[in-house]
Amino acid sequence: MKRIVILSLLVAGMLAGCSQPAPSDTTSSSAAQAAGPVTTATPAPTATPAPTAEPTPTPQPEPEIETVDGVTYINGILIANKTYSLPADYAPGVDATAEAAFNEMAQAAAAEGLNIYISSSFRSYEYQDRIYNNYVARDGQAAADTYSARPGHSEHQTGLAFDLNTIDDSFAATPEAAWVAEHAHEYGFIIRYPADKESITGYKYEPWHIRYLGVETATDVYESGLCLEEYLDITSIYAE
Ligand code: DAL
Ligand code: ZN
Repeated sequence: MKRIVILSLLVAGMLAGCSQPAPSDTTSSSAAQAAGPVTTATPAPTATPAPTAEPTPTPQPEPEIETVDGVTYINGILIANKTYSLPADYAPGVDATAEAAFNEMAQAAAAEGLNIYISSSFRSYEYQDRIYNNYVARDGQAAADTYSARPGHSEHQTGLAFDLNTIDDSFAATPEAAWVAEHAHEYGFIIRYPADKESITGYKYEPWHIRYLGVETATDVYESGLCLEEYLDITSIYAE
């Protein structure tokens, strides 16, 4: 709309300029130069405004999916969720870079009088199988699927995810949780299962579960306000 108004004013201005009498001396008069060329042969543009350019959303490039020995990388990021699983024998242990980043983060938190510690880190396929099936026996599969990954689908099997402090809803109200939510990206971590994203991540809010992505990507995800599935434009849904 603004563009139409500006264009109309411009056109009106040009038409008004054309109706001015041409100065007699066009070679020496600076006033004439300031007023523009005297030739009036140039046809004035019609008053039809250019089509308004509605802002079109930038098309999202398709995510680049690569599978190496059964492990899925999307845009270079290792993914384990309900859609993308890990081989049962994938057992890298705790990622050393992620662990070092965590230690740095814990030190920074400690300098502010806060205590963050790892309660659960790498979990093997077999261990995840045991805990998932315990939850299924206790709460039923539908409920268990909202908070526990099936074996082969847990991010803990990547060695890049840590659960911090008390692994229950009470953690959300602690100063440690608030600090982690605000600063984790500075150390390369994201809160992997944010509040209000259950239908996208496939899991309830887990303020204690952080995932290492490296500072650049974690900061980008944090600033986007998106969960990782949205950020990568992927799903998290079990095949059956
Ligand atoms: N609690 C998360 C979803 C897991 O089991 O990996
Ligand atoms: Zn976790």
